[in-house]
Amino acid sequence: MMDKLTIGVLFGGRSGEHAVSLMSARFVLSVLDRARYDVIEIGITRRGEWLTGENVLAVMESGAYDRLQPVTLLPDPTRAGLYRLDADGLKPLAQLDVLFPVLHGTFGEDGTLQGLLEMAEMAYVGPGVAGAAVGMDKAIFADLMRAQGIPVVPGVLALRSEMGSSMDTVLDRVEAGLADYPYFVKPANLGSSVGVSKVKSRSDLVEGLLEAAEYDRRVLVQKGLDVREIEVSVMGNDQPIASVCGEVLPGEEFYSYNAKYHDERSRTVIPAKIPETTAERIRALAVKAYAACDMAGLARADFFLDRKTGEVYINEINTIPGFTSISMYPMLWAASGVSNADLVDKLIAYALERKAQRDATRREFEREASA
Ligand SMILES: Nc1ncnc2c1ncn2[C@@H]1O[C@H](COP(=O)(O)OP(=O)(O)O)[C@@H](O)[C@H]1O
Ligand SMILES: [Mg+2]
Repeated sequence: MMDKLTIGVLFGGRSGEHAVSLMSARFVLSVLDRARYDVIEIGITRRGEWLTGENVLAVMESGAYDRLQPVTLLPDPTRAGLYRLDADGLKPLAQLDVLFPVLHGTFGEDGTLQGLLEMAEMAYVGPGVAGAAVGMDKAIFADLMRAQGIPVVPGVLALRSEMGSSMDTVLDRVEAGLADYPYFVKPANLGSSVGVSKVKSRSDLVEGLLEAAEYDRRVLVQKGLDVREIEVSVMGNDQPIASVCGEVLPGEEFYSYNAKYHDERSRTVIPAKIPETTAERIRALAVKAYAACDMAGLARADFFLDRKTGEVYINEINTIPGFTSISMYPMLWAASGVSNADLVDKLIAYALERKAQRDATRREFEREASA
């Protein structure tokens, strides 16, 4: 009998995708095999408090936070594990073998949490600091893809600080770079289509820029293409593998927040009905992009397939993709022969493998003491 592992499942969080995270966590918690894992639920409130207790997810959904125990994780690896925060100080509560962050967006998927976990020397599911940060930042991601020869849609970056007095200069630069409308305007670091708009004129562009700039200091404007949206699931560490391709059919003009989470006309088609050579190309690009970003554990790679030219572009990589029973990430694996339970087992195994690789890394460099 293998020893049971203690898995901390972390969900909620301070990002705009708090509610989506709770839905993903519900699914992950239902899939984790309790014969193999002891599970500790840790919820993060919208204000950033870490809480544990009985049925944290259900309690968080009801908002009765005062029934839960405040906890914290210290950056000090000699004080590993979860600590309870009581009136009379900090007390060790539980050791965690692996932390499974089911947190989408800012403070979860963007490298910030990963920094804390690295400091704490904790094993965790998903990529490290750099992979998470690059996957989250659409502008840096696009530049990295260009450097790898992976096609991306043309884009121009604008800063919030330029938008006041020099808005006309920004508009001129965007129009010079992208030519004919429509464009897509997006906060550089966000997800779930929050702050994303499709703009068809210079006045729309002003509005779109100001809206996106509320969510981030940096805004990416891209050429708007007429595309099909193809997604691939990837998993692994140094030898990543890709699932079959799937297609999303947004119920609206584009895959907006509403189309993703509320519009019942939005559909997914698995496997995507695209030519086999196109599917193979997309899967190969997904693996190449994953490696280029130093991803680990899991990611979903999203592509655009131009309806007119047949050209393939990578749009983004999501390092903690939506993880509900009807989310693409697990569904693409199920269609590729990996059950939900196997998927979660593999993600935990990848987390432990990555931790072992880190532990094998030499930290000190001492010269021979001479004289
Ligand atoms: N350049 C583009 N051309 C056409 N559609 C786009 C473009 N960029 C984004 N979209 C549409 O907007 C949606 C959200 O944009 P995306 O960059 O994926 O942001 P998010 O990270 O919020 O998912 C996409 O799924 C797609 O429907
Ligand atoms: Mg997207």
